[in-house]
Amino acid sequence: MAATKNTSNADRHQKWYDPDIEDVNPQIRHLLEAYSKVPSPGVVKHVNEIVRLNYLSIAELVNPNDHQRARGFAANPYPCIGHYRFLNLTLLTHPLYESILARLMSNPSATYLDLGCCFGQDLRQLVLDGVPSSQLIGLDIEGPLMDLGYELFLDHNTLESKFAVADIFQGESQGEPWAGLVARGVDVIHCSAFFHLFTLAEQFEAAKSVAKLVKNGGIIVGRQSGSVKPSEVPAIKPGSTSFRHDVRTLAELWEKVGAATGTKWKVEGSLDEVGVQNKGKNAVEDENSRRLLFTITREE
Ligand SMILES: C[S@@+](CC[C@H](N)C(=O)[O-])C[C@H]1O[C@@H](n2cnc3c(N)ncnc32)[C@H](O)[C@@H]1O
Repeated sequence: MAATKNTSNADRHQKWYDPDIEDVNPQIRHLLEAYSKVPSPGVVKHVNEIVRLNYLSIAELVNPNDHQRARGFAANPYPCIGHYRFLNLTLLTHPLYESILARLMSNPSATYLDLGCCFGQDLRQLVLDGVPSSQLIGLDIEGPLMDLGYELFLDHNTLESKFAVADIFQGESQGEPWAGLVARGVDVIHCSAFFHLFTLAEQFEAAKSVAKLVKNGGIIVGRQSGSVKPSEVPAIKPGSTSFRHDVRTLAELWEKVGAATGTKWKVEGSLDEVGVQNKGKNAVEDENSRRLLFTITREE
């Protein structure tokens, strides 16, 4: 796997680690004020405190005696956390957002899974927009991130969503909660900034696991780093790579997944430059990088 629990190369990761922020975008501000009831003047302070807690809590996993913030970040050096990208509500920007809302709200047995949910920010937006929280599930390999989600959104006593700690690469070998998810089946999977963490070969393995979760007619939606020149690029762990797709290579991947799992998938998507960080010394992406927005529909 390309990332997590990696304490080496702290210098390189440090460039993905922004200092405290001074303001937040209007969408997450609205969510924190309207859903979490954080008073407007306290929103930025609240976010900065939670991000500091993230570094401390991950550091505890690595070495209980070392609570240094920088060490914690080196242990889980996702640019999505270091650059505060988790404050961007990515599902909201997907062209199918309104139809996903309608699908979930019109059918009480319809289920949504946020794969690699991190703090569970997109899931909370669905709740604010009217979806019963019991229909929503978050899944992440890092339980502490989901725990911190409760602290960020102040909803420990109200949110009825389940959060599953699971590794997409372990599949059925990990028993519950994975087995329960496969049995229940999912109508909508959101996975943002997830598949792009892995090599193409790893993405194939992960996608075969994901395919087992999706009901016939279900969809997988999200955004990730794509490229006009699809290829393996250097990843977070020194010496490792991750694969950036265009729409054609993503479709090829899911064609292979279909053949391997006896299923059929339609892949739609687009590349654009929204949110691409390929300028400056802290750039995570390069001149070929694009945002890849995708919808993958299970047809059989
Ligand atoms: C780059 S972050 C993206 C978070 C969120 N989806 C977003 O868009 O802000 C990737 C997330 O995937 C999780 N993750 C990484 N490897 C995983 C695995 N093998 N199984 C499940 N989750 C994993 C990480 O813990 C992290 O929360």
